[in-house]
Amino acid sequence: MGEILSVITNPAETVRSLTESKRLLEEARREIEENRERAQIRPKHTFSRLPGFFPRKAEMTAIERALAGEPSFTVVFGASSVGKTALLREVLSNPKYHVLHFDLRIAGFADLGSLYQSLSQQMEQYFEEIAKQMEGYEDFEKEAWSFKHDRLNVEKRTMDSQNGNGSNGKVKTSDIARLMELFQSSLLKYWEFKPETSQDDHSKSRHGANTRRKNSQETTSSQTRVGTPNDASRNNVGKKSRWNFFRSGRFKRWSSHKTKSAATENTREVPEKEEERTIPDKKIPVIFFDEAHKLPALIQSSDTMKCLLDSMLVLTKQDRLCHVIHATSDPFYQTWLRQLNVMQHCKIVTIGDCSKSETRTYYRDHILPNVPGHLRQSLVFERLYEAFGGKLAHWHDYINDYINSNGTLDIKQSSHFLQAHALLNLHIIHSSQSDNGSQDSKDKARQAAGSPTSRHTNAESLHPALGPAGFKIYSPLNRPPSSLAVLNDGFAGLGSELSRYLKTHYSDSSRAVFPTSAPSNSAEFTAMHLLKVMSRITQPGNISLPYFLLCREIGVREVDGMVKGKVLDLRWTD
Ligand SMILES: Nc1ncnc2c1ncn2[C@@H]1O[C@H](COP(=O)(O)OP(=O)(O)O)[C@@H](O)[C@H]1O
Ligand SMILES: [Mg+2]
Repeated sequence: MGEILSVITNPAETVRSLTESKRLLEEARREIEENRERAQIRPKHTFSRLPGFFPRKAEMTAIERALAGEPSFTVVFGASSVGKTALLREVLSNPKYHVLHFDLRIAGFADLGSLYQSLSQQMEQYFEEIAKQMEGYEDFEKEAWSFKHDRLNVEKRTMDSQNGNGSNGKVKTSDIARLMELFQSSLLKYWEFKPETSQDDHSKSRHGANTRRKNSQETTSSQTRVGTPNDASRNNVGKKSRWNFFRSGRFKRWSSHKTKSAATENTREVPEKEEERTIPDKKIPVIFFDEAHKLPALIQSSDTMKCLLDSMLVLTKQDRLCHVIHATSDPFYQTWLRQLNVMQHCKIVTIGDCSKSETRTYYRDHILPNVPGHLRQSLVFERLYEAFGGKLAHWHDYINDYINSNGTLDIKQSSHFLQAHALLNLHIIHSSQSDNGSQDSKDKARQAAGSPTSRHTNAESLHPALGPAGFKIYSPLNRPPSSLAVLNDGFAGLGSELSRYLKTHYSDSSRAVFPTSAPSNSAEFTAMHLLKVMSRITQPGNISLPYFLLCREIGVREVDGMVKGKVLDLRWTD
């Protein structure tokens, strides 16, 4: 009665509210439409090969060996641009793997929240693919839903707090813990699961395992189903009974998977033979963190970090459910993993530069064919190798620039060469400045700056305005970035050695531009140390020096300083 009355008494207001309702309805419709679209453009995580990948047999074998057998936690070390990502892409693009990929270099990973989002989305997608692509696994769609709903709950909570309702605005350690647990239990179901098919019935009766005989008699794969109400009532253990558990030991399951995988790899999607159709091959999940040393800076809480790493240990070493791979260009990442009691359980793979003969083959087959004929004759392999060694990325970049400059760019003007040269000079000058006034080493440093390897230029001409002392402008320690304070707090509980390490390793973005070896105002090594190491390492046939021996000779702080300053590349071997 009141409503009708208000129409009569206030027609303008009614029209307004009707218009408003219409607008809300339209908005809702648009939102639904947008959501529908969004659902269709799921993030793509198909892991594809690097186009023009040059196979490196030894390294590929090492990675494949680490991934063979039971699921494990592998840390792949190797200097920047050495080809870690390229190799892992190659190996992991094998259809037997499903990769959950996190490239921590990309801006998408700004904080814990974005990491949670991506983890959850990729886990959902993994189970969604299982449900869609594997016969008999349709019910795994529910596993996918559990990730989506967990995410929606977290999103709702953070939205609510942004709107002023409550204070739990951020993704918390408990969210990560719950998500990883969800993944663990879903994977447990997946590995224990055995779809019921005609073939299964056949093999079950053959093995005498007929306790879970099916009620229905369907024989075609399209009718294969995971569980029925009958299954549920028979097992009478609630929701879980919808899954049929495959009661062999997990190791047995894993090894049987291994032997089958080769045979059914290519026939998985469109199975042709009856026996291959009935036992679909299980894809092995691989959680791959690229540039993993950025995790601490991203997560900023030792509790959350510990929780994430511990759950990865549970997934690998304890439950053998999936592989975890961390790739890093920071050789000291292992110190940190060791502090958190993780490294002890990891396999190590170290990637180095290509050998000379590999580089020659790469040059012949992948580089030269792209160089226009008239520019080829001034390229000499030996000269190029002297400058770029076995770093394919550097070869690739130089040749590109060489072609673009129509053959006028000299090797020593190439950006990688100049960078390496400038870096060395800066270190020599910086370390000689803080050399406690030792005239001898200053002289040596000056000599080095003008030595034959730097014919073209020296530090002054490269950085005329900078001057030797100017190097300090770029030191993070004179002007600590704001993130340093955050990190200090975040890692307060981790012990002084570790937080010192984190400070020098993870807090400063300018390090990427001007790496510094100095945690205090003095250099960690002197020009003498640097020259000693350089003269040893440039001797013919001496491409590497043993780390521990060198540490004993000139000191751990000094050697580590050179590694942190990217003067030396440190490789861990098994
Ligand atoms: N095996 C390879 N075949 C072809 N190109 C390669 C190979 N390895 C590395 N590269 C080149 O080097 C670049 C850097 O390699 P990447 O795998 O990203 O190094 P990392 O991950 O170790 O930093 C690639 O973009 C590619 O151009
Ligand atoms: Mg990489």
